[in-house]
Amino acid sequence: MKQTVLVSGGAGYIGSHTAVELINAGFDVVIADNLSNSDMSGVEGVRKITGIDVPFVNVDCCDTEAFRKVFEQYEFDSIIHFAAFKAVGESVADPMKYYHNNLLSFMNVINLMREFNRHNIVFSSSATVYGEADQLPVTEQTPRKPATSAYGNTKQMCEDILRDSVNAYESLNGIALRYFNPIGAHPSALIGELPRGVPQNLVPFITQTAAGVRECLSIFGDDYPTPDGSCLRDYIDVVDLAKAHVVAIARMVDGKSKTRYEIFNVGTGNGVSVFELVRGFERVNDLKLNYKVAPRRPGDVVAIWADTSLANEELGWKAERSLDDTLASAWAWEKHVRGL
Ligand code: UD1
Repeated sequence: MKQTVLVSGGAGYIGSHTAVELINAGFDVVIADNLSNSDMSGVEGVRKITGIDVPFVNVDCCDTEAFRKVFEQYEFDSIIHFAAFKAVGESVADPMKYYHNNLLSFMNVINLMREFNRHNIVFSSSATVYGEADQLPVTEQTPRKPATSAYGNTKQMCEDILRDSVNAYESLNGIALRYFNPIGAHPSALIGELPRGVPQNLVPFITQTAAGVRECLSIFGDDYPTPDGSCLRDYIDVVDLAKAHVVAIARMVDGKSKTRYEIFNVGTGNGVSVFELVRGFERVNDLKLNYKVAPRRPGDVVAIWADTSLANEELGWKAERSLDDTLASAWAWEKHVRGL
């Protein structure tokens, strides 16, 4: 029987790419999103790429009664919960906004799954839970560090809520995917990252600078203890990341999980510096980027990249797209958005 997956936050960046990959893998998809940090273009893009009229419900997952109706209306047994706020700086300035939205929506998901006897959940976690790790690369066993932002704290708290819920309620299976740095866009350039206002993340700032929307990219720090002085991150292609969700859902649907709550790192296994990324973007897209070195950004970790052995072995998943192709796709998407 065809399985249906509810994708909360499916109009957003990672959610829309995941909806496409789920459909490519033979799942039916229902998208639920309140469009608070996205718009219908993400849903339209999914429909256009797949040729499927994917059902969309405009709902705030914090609104228990409205969200319950989605469970009443659709027969999904699995959920991927993307719907959350994700701006680190904003979460420090307004922590209650983050605790309210990110925790309440997740608790609603778990409670409604129990009420309606739905079984499988993938939670969008983040490498941010590792903080400044003592050893690199980080494995799933690497101890989490105390969160330095409310955003990071909600990721840790939701992981704990999921672990405790799965331990207590036998009907539930959960997988937390710890994303490293998702970048790039779908090869069709019909979906991609659409930040509102000034981008906080590196690649959208790069593409907007290349498009002339921003004057100059600031590289936050060139005096870190790294080979070229800039920070190291594990940049994971968004389509590869989307595919990790598909295999995580399939693992639970097929009853292949080793334990009912599992955690997987989703990265490439490579640490790439900010300078390397910028130069790679220039080379692949044959353009010059206006950039300058600026002071360090408070709260940045020096270096983090993933040990991906567990995902490779257990999920049979591996990042496939080259960084060059990913950086080309990010630029193709920005050009599409700007009509260039
Ligand atoms: C950030 C968050 C992380 C969150 C992720 C997803 C922090 C400390 N971490 O990851 O918790 O899960 O976003 O949204 O905020 N950089 C520049 N110039 C820029 C922007 C970034 O040099 O204009 C540098 C940063 O200093 C960093 C690298 O680029 O070294 C990547 O930054 P970013 O894309 O913001 O991701 P993270 O900080 O790794």
